[in-house]
Amino acid sequence: MSNWQELEHKYFMSTVDRVPVTLVRGEGVWVWDEDGRQYLDFVGGWAVDSLGHCHPAVAEAVTEQVHTLIQVSNQFYTIPQVRLAELLVQNSCLDKVFLCNSGAEANEGAVKLARRYGKLHLNGAYEVITATGSFHGRTLAMVAASGQSKFQQPYLPLPVGFVNVGYNSIEAIKAATTGQTCAVMLEPVQGEGGVNLPDDKYLTAVRAWCDQMGILLILDEVQTGVGRMGTLFAYEQYGIEPDIMTLAKGLASGIPIGAILAKDRASVFTAGEHGSTFGGNPVACAAGYATLRFIIENDIAGNAKRVGEYLIAGLKGLRQKFQFITDVRGCGLLLAMEFSSDIAQSVMMACLDGGLLVNRLKPNALRFMPPLIIGNQEVDEAVGILDKALSSIGN
Ligand SMILES: Cc1ncc(COP(=O)(O)O)c(C=O)c1O
Repeated sequence: MSNWQELEHKYFMSTVDRVPVTLVRGEGVWVWDEDGRQYLDFVGGWAVDSLGHCHPAVAEAVTEQVHTLIQVSNQFYTIPQVRLAELLVQNSCLDKVFLCNSGAEANEGAVKLARRYGKLHLNGAYEVITATGSFHGRTLAMVAASGQSKFQQPYLPLPVGFVNVGYNSIEAIKAATTGQTCAVMLEPVQGEGGVNLPDDKYLTAVRAWCDQMGILLILDEVQTGVGRMGTLFAYEQYGIEPDIMTLAKGLASGIPIGAILAKDRASVFTAGEHGSTFGGNPVACAAGYATLRFIIENDIAGNAKRVGEYLIAGLKGLRQKFQFITDVRGCGLLLAMEFSSDIAQSVMMACLDGGLLVNRLKPNALRFMPPLIIGNQEVDEAVGILDKALSSIGN
């Protein structure tokens, strides 16, 4: 074990089961460890490095911004946050933007916005309906929102105001809706929960129900947004529009950022009702603007769709070969492979030996979320390494 890893164990809170590799450098879809070993990165910072590592467009924008203005308070106007907000509005169905620093913070803000809407327009309604298997972040309220008991149990009691109901069941949402409900919050595709796709018509039915009841639909596109699913935003594929949408992960290609977007009618915060010291930081916004602009101008979402189809075909080919692969699913470059038993850790470690980084999503499943700029050649290489890794596990 390297000295860095020993020091980490000594000084760092152990909240993650880390893979025993210390990464020191990245370029495109590749990263290097401290011994100079090269890996193909299909984890992508957990669906964050949309343009890959150290993309010139992002590196140049950040470099220029750190030499110009790093941080002032939100008491003042700054140009990078306005440019990013304008680009987001011009390319989505939403009208107004609030910038923050992470996915959890964006979702917290979205829930506050929905509660504010409830106070103003729904007789004080404050409850938010969410789905089992969802993941909305690690703050206490977002743990309560996330319908996964493993994240909730260690921290009971949780903040009130969240009702977790079965995923993919419009009937469950209808049954849980009361006079206290102000919003339904869903991931278009559940990422952390297993790359779970919505059933046909689920999201349209939820949209229609929210309209019928006059409550808000919040889409958490923290993982699915900004091209990952093969369209700029996932909602485009389901023929619906959210009232509120949250973004984070891929928005600035690795620089911490989060965003809440809302339709005009749902944009009810007034001065002083919400805020963030670092939210809208000029460096993060410059990175976000450079990333989003590059994605739009170069149809990177289209690349994610095309290469995603090529990758899923490759993974399905492996499914034909290895009987213990029970499912391959996903959309764009957010894909998962499920096994009949808990071998994901062994497969992940065998991939690591072969020079491929993958994410162990569950004891019996892997997730693939490479940079959106990836090409077919790198996919061939990754599928080849995965094939060898699976062969070493047996059939
Ligand atoms: C859908 C979704 N929402 C929210 C979050 C939380 O984002 P963050 O870790 O930036 O707080 C995540 C993180 O994985 C996520 O996938």
